[in-house]
Amino acid sequence: MSSKLKKAIIPVAGLGTRLLPISKAIPKEMVPVVDRPLIQHVVEEALEAGLDEIILVTRGGKSAVEDHFDGHYELEAELERKGKTALLEKLRAMAPPELKITSVRQDKALGLGHAIHCAAYLVQPDEPFAVILPDVLVKPAQGKTQADLKTMVEVFEQQQAAQIMVEEVPLERVNQYGIVDCQGVELKAGESASIVSMVEKPAPEEAPSRLSVIGRYILPGEIMPVLAQTQPGAGNEIQLTDAIAEIIAQGKPVEAFRMQGRTFDCGYIQGWLQANQQLGKEAGLL
Ligand code: G1P
Repeated sequence: MSSKLKKAIIPVAGLGTRLLPISKAIPKEMVPVVDRPLIQHVVEEALEAGLDEIILVTRGGKSAVEDHFDGHYELEAELERKGKTALLEKLRAMAPPELKITSVRQDKALGLGHAIHCAAYLVQPDEPFAVILPDVLVKPAQGKTQADLKTMVEVFEQQQAAQIMVEEVPLERVNQYGIVDCQGVELKAGESASIVSMVEKPAPEEAPSRLSVIGRYILPGEIMPVLAQTQPGAGNEIQLTDAIAEIIAQGKPVEAFRMQGRTFDCGYIQGWLQANQQLGKEAGLL
């Protein structure tokens, strides 16, 4: 895994049932968090980490997610004519020239592993890539500026080992996440340790740890053919976790990176409201 990390796959084909009725006619990735849609926060996180080739895995009814990153000539001309330069610059900064957005379709809802595999033909066989799940916002700790994804990319570049971002959750919540087994290593925030196995949504009594996968991954291109062979697992879905467990079993180095910042799960109403309240306050808007 030596080629440069440039690509981030962002799956956006989900139905967003946990955000209903907000997400009935608008994609859940377009709900606003403070002053911009959720997807914009996530793409900014990717850009900050040097990932400027974004691959959206999408489906019909979600074109607003792609449209959001298009230029809007009429609007820009109008803002220019009215001399609203600050707003114009803010708008243009949302899709800087280095940002390249491609989208691929997921034609069946077969799970996260299937969604990632839909982008397989856009990734070279030995090219590492990131996966970013857009429901969860990962923000630096208050008073800090560097995002965890950027740090994790730096760790990846030093270690040349796949990285999976994790945080500790209470035992009663391990059945909502992918859980990693680092053989009991005490992982401090900002550190990485080898993963020996991974399990998707284990029962608390079967969980190998309380370190949960939060939706930021750096993976080797070699995982794509493994995903193609991965059978449905937890929830009868093709799980990314199972394919990662398989590459670990094949001897590929995979590490857990313990995040330092904060997560906001915007995939359900209460978490989304909390994100707006907290981040709105920090932006001086509330
Ligand atoms: C997915 C992953 C899971 C991960 C979680 C993070 O699950 O399969 O391993 O912990 O995202 O949000 P989902 O939330 O889609 O069920």
